[in-house]
Amino acid sequence: MNKIIKIFVIFTIIVNVINGLAFPKHDELESTLDGSGSFPAQWFTQTLDHFNFQNNQTFQQKYYVNDQYYNYQNGGPIILYINGEGPVSSPPYSSDDAVVIYAQALNCMIVTLEHRFYGESSPFSELTVENLQYLSHQQALEDLATFIVSYQNQLKNAGHIVTIGGSYSGALSAWFRIKYPHITVGSIASSGVVHAILDFTAFDSYLTVAGGPECTSALQAVTAAVEKEYFAGSSNQQHIKQILQAEELTEIGDFFYWLADSMAEGLQYGYYDELCYPLIDAINAGTTGIDLITLYSNYTINTWGKVLGTPDEYSTAWQQNITYDPSKSADRAWWYQTCSSLGWFQAAPSQNSIRSSMVNMTYFQTHCEQLFGEGIWPNVNAVNLQYGGDQSNPLLNAAGSNILFTSGFSDPWTQASILKSNYPDVEPSIMTTCRKCGHCVDLRGCPGGCDLPNNLDQVRSYSLKLIATWLNINN
Ligand SMILES: *[C@@H]1O[C@H](CO)[C@@H](O)[C@H](O)[C@H]1NC(C)=O
Ligand SMILES: *[C@@H]1O[C@H](CO)[C@@H](O)[C@H](O)[C@H]1NC(C)=O
Ligand SMILES: *[C@@H]1O[C@H](CO)[C@@H](O)[C@H](O)[C@H]1NC(C)=O
Ligand SMILES: *[C@@H]1O[C@H](CO)[C@@H](O)[C@H](O)[C@H]1NC(C)=O
Repeated sequence: MNKIIKIFVIFTIIVNVINGLAFPKHDELESTLDGSGSFPAQWFTQTLDHFNFQNNQTFQQKYYVNDQYYNYQNGGPIILYINGEGPVSSPPYSSDDAVVIYAQALNCMIVTLEHRFYGESSPFSELTVENLQYLSHQQALEDLATFIVSYQNQLKNAGHIVTIGGSYSGALSAWFRIKYPHITVGSIASSGVVHAILDFTAFDSYLTVAGGPECTSALQAVTAAVEKEYFAGSSNQQHIKQILQAEELTEIGDFFYWLADSMAEGLQYGYYDELCYPLIDAINAGTTGIDLITLYSNYTINTWGKVLGTPDEYSTAWQQNITYDPSKSADRAWWYQTCSSLGWFQAAPSQNSIRSSMVNMTYFQTHCEQLFGEGIWPNVNAVNLQYGGDQSNPLLNAAGSNILFTSGFSDPWTQASILKSNYPDVEPSIMTTCRKCGHCVDLRGCPGGCDLPNNLDQVRSYSLKLIATWLNINN
C-alpha cells in the first residue's frame, strides 16, 4: 500500500466514547483532519483463548498498517501502536501524532491492532458474563504477541519492534516489554496506568492539583449546588437533570459519577479554559444555585458533550445491555475489565473532594454487581504481582528495561502511573508540563495546541532519542 495518503477534511465528529479511562477519545479530538479512509481494515485470525489449548476457537481481529515511512527495499523497524478500550478506525497517520513523527524519523512501519471485545474485534455478538471471560489484559497481550510475530515474519526485511501505547494501552505497552523482551526492544508507556488500584481516591485528589485552588473551589461549588437541588425533592431533582440534559441517569450513583467525570475529563483532556474560567468568573460575580448549574450545563453540553461523551452511557441500563454494538458496547466491556481485574474506582476522598460522596466504593461495588452479578470484583494485588506496577511497595516495583514512562501534568491518571522510576537507568520517566497538558499529551498534543510555556517538543525529542537507541540507530 505504498501510496500517497490523501487527507480528507471532514467536520463530523466520530463519537466513540468511553467513560473512566478514555484514550480512544483522541479520535474525536483529532477528527478535523481525517484521512482514515485511506487505510483499509485488515483482519487477523486470532486465538480466542491463549491459555487453554483444548479450545481451538478463533475470531477475526482488525488491524491497520501505515507504511508511508517504511522502505520495503531496505526494511526497517516496526512500531506496534497498541490500542485500548475503544474502536479503532485507522492507524496513526496525522502529522501531529507522535507515533507518526517517530515513524517518519526512523523509517518505521506502523502497525496497530484493535483490542479484543472493542470496535469490530468482538468474538461474540453478546457480552454475557460467560462470553466476557475471554476479555482480559492477559489475553490482550497474547493477542499482540501472536499477531506481531506473524506480521513480522511475513514482512520482508522487517527489523526490530517497538511498542507505543497510551493510558490502559500504555500499561499494555509496558507490560508487553516486561513479558516479551524477546519480541520487542523497547516501549513507550504514555500515561501508562501500570498500577492497579481498587479504591482510587487519589484520582480526585490530584484534580485539585491539576485545577489549582480557584478551579477546585469552583467545581466544589457546582457539586454542592447540584447536591442541594438533588436532595431538595423530586421536582428539583428533575429540574436540574433537565438543565444538564441528563434525565436518563435515574440512579443516584450514576448521576453523580457522570457529574464528577465530566469535570475530571475537562482537566484530563486539556479543557481547563472551557471548564474553569466561566465558573471562576461567575462565582467571583456571586452566581450560585440553579444559575451556577445552568452555567455548568453550558460546559457539559457545548464542550464535554461535543468531544468527550454523552450522559446516557453512564447509566446502569446502558451498560447492562448485552447486545454487542461496536459503537456502544465499549462501556460495558471496559466496566467488565475494571470490575473483574483492574479496579481504578474513582471514589470520593474524605477530605477536600471535588466529587460528591455519593461516588463511593458502595456505588462501585453495587454497580459491578448490577452489571455482572455477584462475585465479579477485582483482585488488584494479582495484577500488581504479575507485572510489578506498585512503586510504593518495594517488592512490587516495576523492573523491566527499555520502558519510557511519559506523563502529562494535568492528568489525574498520573496517580496510577510511574512518575519517578525506582530504576531510572532502564525505566526512565518524563513529564510534559503545562496547564492543558493532560492524558497522553506527548502522543497527541493538547486540544487547540498546548499553552506556553510547555516542554512538549523536548519530551518528544527525548522519546525519539531513546527509541533510536533501543533500535541501535544513530539519529
Ligand atoms: C477444533 O476442535 C474440535 C473438537 O475439539 C475438532 O472437532 C475440530 O476439528 C477442531 N478444529 C480445528 C480447526 O482444528
Ligand atoms: C454511597 O453512595 C450511595 C449512592 O451511590 C449512597 O446511597 C450512599 O448513601 C453513599 N454512602 C455514603 C456513606 O456516603
Ligand atoms: C458556552 O460554551 C461555549 C463553548 O465553550 C462558549 O463559547 C460560550 O462562551 C459559553 N457561554 C457562556 C455563557 O459561558
Ligand atoms: C441494546 O442495544 C442494542 C444495540 O445497540 C439496541 O438495538 C437495543 O435497543 C438495546 N436494548 C435496550 C433495552 O436498550
